[in-house]
Amino acid sequence: MKLLVALIFSSILVVVCSKVSYRGAQVLTLNPGNENERDIVRELQVKYKLRFWRDPRRHNGPVDLQVPSDELLTVKQLLVLNRMSFEVAIDDLQESILAQVSPREAQFTLADFDYNKYHTFAEITAWTANFAKAHSKYVTRIKVGTTYENRTFYALKISTGGSGKKAFALDCGIHADEWIGPATCIHVIKNLTESIGTSGLVGDLLKDVDFYLIPSSNPDGYVYSWQSDRMWRKTRSPTSGNCFGVDPNRNWDSNFAGNGSSNDPCSDDYHGPHAWSEANVRAQRDFVNGIENLQGYIDIHSFSQLWMFPYGYTYKHARDYELLSKIASESVAAIKSVHGVVYTPGPIAEVIYVASGSTADYFYDHLKLRCVFAAELRDKGQHGMLLPESEIQPTAEEIFAGLLVIARNIREGNCAL
Ligand SMILES: *[C@@H]1O[C@H](CO)[C@@H](O)[C@H](O)[C@H]1NC(C)=O
Ligand SMILES: *[C@@H]1O[C@H](CO)[C@@H](O)[C@H](O)[C@H]1NC(C)=O
Ligand SMILES: *[C@@H]1O[C@H](CO)[C@@H](O)[C@H](O)[C@H]1NC(C)=O
Ligand SMILES: [Zn+2]
Repeated sequence: MKLLVALIFSSILVVVCSKVSYRGAQVLTLNPGNENERDIVRELQVKYKLRFWRDPRRHNGPVDLQVPSDELLTVKQLLVLNRMSFEVAIDDLQESILAQVSPREAQFTLADFDYNKYHTFAEITAWTANFAKAHSKYVTRIKVGTTYENRTFYALKISTGGSGKKAFALDCGIHADEWIGPATCIHVIKNLTESIGTSGLVGDLLKDVDFYLIPSSNPDGYVYSWQSDRMWRKTRSPTSGNCFGVDPNRNWDSNFAGNGSSNDPCSDDYHGPHAWSEANVRAQRDFVNGIENLQGYIDIHSFSQLWMFPYGYTYKHARDYELLSKIASESVAAIKSVHGVVYTPGPIAEVIYVASGSTADYFYDHLKLRCVFAAELRDKGQHGMLLPESEIQPTAEEIFAGLLVIARNIREGNCAL
């Protein structure tokens, strides 16, 4: 009987089956020198329906353009014609997709769970149940809500007990293809939990601050990115057009449908038919709004290595600009001290681009929280969303250090409303 069970388990293989093939597709890195060159890149993107990995709306800095194999020759010729040089960042996207995750057996038990692998939504959900059960004294699994495709997703609350403590919340994976987010969140949960009762900064923090973490906040999109299209970013709800999905980080009621979001259902930045159209976004909103004494929030993305804060929808400085700048600089220094990796601090609109309807702006304005952040994790485009599994551990280590800075500020009362 035992053998049979083992056989059944070993037959569940985890593989990325991107039904959408990216065979021959490339990612090109360009360095537009001026507004005119940025316009050329934008025109190419629209004309050939290309996807930006790094967008020309970003201030300065390079642009990454994903080009399907059948447009590659034309796009390269047009770039040459316009005297714009480029480098091939990813030579064959399908190869890179397949290289990111090698086939392995499913990991549904705590004993099997390898923290330095990317995991499917089913594995993550099983892990939240197993982990909460194994640490039931300090860890509680709470249902956040249900998605459009009826998937239930969870947060884990880490608390040493007592009530009315200051709280810090975060979510990972709101953009489905940013796999390093969920992997990092899971590491952070494990590390926090294992630090309870230890002497030192983390153990002390946990005496005063409760943590709420949502490891996978866009489950439908995440499942789709594993099973159908590795580069899927949005949710999976049907839209008025022929395209599916809404950008869940443009769907919040914070300057909804404003600059830096698209009304085109086929766009990766599509804001949705109305604010809160996405079930997972509503669930996340209600869950976070219900956390008692919440004093800090961070929304985790990748990639680009940025440690940002509101606002996204305007260049206007937030009322807590000074405090947020100070904490962000401290976080960035803490991150750098771990592996020497450099993140850039600053307001979302300034360090990346204007974005309306975002998670961070909503919690900042609506809950009047002071300490709200949004991070873009590793790397800076070498692998982008296809960050190798060997980078999960070091990314988690440096992000853990960055998060501790925010938690320490919460503990010291600097984020008090
Ligand atoms: C979700 O569940 C409801 C109630 O069972 C059902 O009516 C609906 O069709 C389901 N939605 C999807 C996308 O499967
Ligand atoms: C959008 O951006 C334009 C130009 O940058 C600006 O003039 C306009 O006021 C902005 N609109 C909103 C609603 O913020
Ligand atoms: C866990 O926490 C310890 C102590 O703060 C830190 O040194 C280590 O890098 C952390 N590891 C991860 C994976 O976050
Ligand atoms: Zn993102």
